[in-house]
Amino acid sequence: MAALYDLRARVLRPDRPPEDSRFPGDDAPATVHLGAFVDGKCVGVASLFAERGIRLRGMAVEPDRRGQGVGAALLRHIQQGAAERGQDLWCNARASAVGFYEKLGWKTEGDVFDLPLIGPHYVMRWTASGLPGGAQNGDS
Ligand SMILES: CC(C)(COP(=O)(O)OP(=O)(O)OC[C@H]1O[C@@H](n2cnc3c(N)ncnc32)[C@H](O)[C@@H]1OP(=O)(O)O)[C@@H](O)C(=O)NCCC(=O)NCCS
Repeated sequence: MAALYDLRARVLRPDRPPEDSRFPGDDAPATVHLGAFVDGKCVGVASLFAERGIRLRGMAVEPDRRGQGVGAALLRHIQQGAAERGQDLWCNARASAVGFYEKLGWKTEGDVFDLPLIGPHYVMRWTASGLPGGAQNGDS
């Protein structure tokens, strides 16, 4: 968990105290934390919370490992698990990351909104059952 909190803090809350990178429900039994590892080092993290369905939070990849497919691999793994369980996923996506989620088959819902101290966001949703042709990972 230390690596997850550290990566979250450095990537998602760089100007805030470390405790701001702990989310409500992090320790809940239903919460799932995932990490992507390269050469034994945690370089990508994401967490799933039981909140109005399944909420994806804390998606972050080490800056020097971005653009190499780490985030996509992590998210495809999550989507595969969700599809097997018949679960949809949602998140509050930073506007700057919407294109990443769209490439993985997610769709925005509604208008942009502002999260204090972080910036503009969209609600985004990934729906296993709604994908055409049985595709489950957003890659056609
Ligand atoms: C967003 C993030 C998780 C993406 O991880 P990544 O490992 O760099 O992404 P990948 O290399 O797997 O990219 C997968 C695809 O998405 C695209 N992509 C990645 N980040 C993108 C972005 N911010 N906007 C648009 N497209 C993006 C890539 O070009 C790639 O496209 P391709 O399949 O055509 O080559 C990572 O950049 C990150 O941690 N950003 C800072 C924190 C953040 O914004 N997290 C999301 C909070 S909602």
